[in-house]
Amino acid sequence: PVLVVDFGAQYAQLIARRVREARVYSEIVPSTTPVAEMLARNPKAIILSGGPSSVYEEGAPLLDDARALFTAGVPVFGMCYGFQLMATTLGGTVDNTGAREYGRTALYVSKASSTLFEGTPAEQSVWMSHGDACSAAPEGFAVTASTDLVPVAAFENDEKRLYGVQYHPEVMHSTHGQQVLEHFLYRGAGIEPTWTTGNVIEEQVAAIREQVGSKRAICGLSGGVDSAVAAALVQKAIGSQLTCVYVDHGLMRKGETEQVEKDFVAATGVRLKVVDAQERFLSALAGVTEPEEKRKIIGREFIRVFEQAQAEIVAEAPDDQPVEFLVQGTLYPDVVESGGGTGTANIKSHHNVGGLPEDLEFELVEPLRQLFKDEVRMVGSELGLPDEIVQRQPFPGPGLGIRIVGEVTRERLDLLREADAIAREELTAAGLDREIWQCPVVLLADVRSVGVQGDGRTYGHPIVLRPVSSEDAMTADWTRMPYEVLARISTRITNEVRDVNRVVLDVTSKPPGTIEWE
Ligand code: XMP
Repeated sequence: PVLVVDFGAQYAQLIARRVREARVYSEIVPSTTPVAEMLARNPKAIILSGGPSSVYEEGAPLLDDARALFTAGVPVFGMCYGFQLMATTLGGTVDNTGAREYGRTALYVSKASSTLFEGTPAEQSVWMSHGDACSAAPEGFAVTASTDLVPVAAFENDEKRLYGVQYHPEVMHSTHGQQVLEHFLYRGAGIEPTWTTGNVIEEQVAAIREQVGSKRAICGLSGGVDSAVAAALVQKAIGSQLTCVYVDHGLMRKGETEQVEKDFVAATGVRLKVVDAQERFLSALAGVTEPEEKRKIIGREFIRVFEQAQAEIVAEAPDDQPVEFLVQGTLYPDVVESGGGTGTANIKSHHNVGGLPEDLEFELVEPLRQLFKDEVRMVGSELGLPDEIVQRQPFPGPGLGIRIVGEVTRERLDLLREADAIAREELTAAGLDREIWQCPVVLLADVRSVGVQGDGRTYGHPIVLRPVSSEDAMTADWTRMPYEVLARISTRITNEVRDVNRVVLDVTSKPPGTIEWE
């Protein structure tokens, strides 16, 4: 693989994705990994990510043996902090000036014959975020770009195959960033762009067959993209040795259960067990209004139903091979984040199908562990899953249960389901599905306001629309969506949904608000 060394900023994942967009397989390693260990993996190239704004910053992460990394003969591309590290390690000069350059900056390419910049404009827009500046490149390096403030903004050493840029080529605002990255990969490092999601399917199918053998596996389907694609992939590998379990907790949106029962089965031919657990969840949630308590109850009930389903699957075919494997739709960002995520505050207890307890005693099958969300979608399409499943926006495991502020009852769920269906229908009709990351529709069940309809007074509940734009749900902004679409949704909801007499728009970013209301 191409290794992306993560110096602790949020850029490493983005770089890894950009490399894959260039059809080259990449993986992220923390900067605390010994260099010998990185080299032992025979990387085709190594990319050093951004990190703190300066190599002189107190506690700035260093490699245990940077010199060894730069002299091993492996092509290296340093970006931002990685660029400074390359410069200082190899004898260049980085001035501890404290001068700062942030945001969009003009970059002047100074050499036409550059490996990195060939075919790109002499002046281009790049994204900077650094304190100190490199004033002299290490010996043997050609300086190939500068900015108004930085004399050495890029350097290259074709002989040693070492390259560096002071800016962030991976972000969208660097207009020719992807081209520069591809130049490094193809021209600098001589890598062929051959990695595709098609390869992933073949590789994973073989790996799953090897892992599971003739035993049986089960998979919890949530209706979401990840579990659906994971299940489809495993189904392709082991066919009827897989049983999927779908727990209908009654907190799904309109049409979702049918989508899993019909569309998913039609597309994959998977063996599916649907458990109707609506009553069970409703009675467990009766009288509960506190969000964390709701989440815990839903998580707990889910596990119980799942365990029961598992026991039934075994009881139905006791002579078959044992059920030893559990399929989960874990994605690469989860893997990367759980590797480094210590000491983060618990904002909400996320409930996932993946949140099954460890004492279930299964071996895990996680065929999406290497993939990013957009890659998972591509794999899903290639496996023949319909767009309605593959392009679905995120929906929380606890479902509409955490979109009713107040007690969850069947009547309230029905009402919210109607309002949500209208909003989704209009957003889709307006062509906004891709632009909007997701749009929770929330019922304020404990709030009433006075309205007038026909000639009469009403005293109904408000519905909140929460359209957000986001890259990864960690941060989000409220979507500035067209007034006409908002107007249509509002009119339809207040006309068509009983007991709702007001529609309001949530104009809070995250932070401080979270995406969901509970
Ligand atoms: P918040 O509300 O924390 O949501 O800003 C971030 C993203 O996570 C989704 N979400 C969940 N997903 N189980 C899930 O699988 C959960 O318990 C859960 N809670 C929130 C939310 O929809 C958003 O995309």
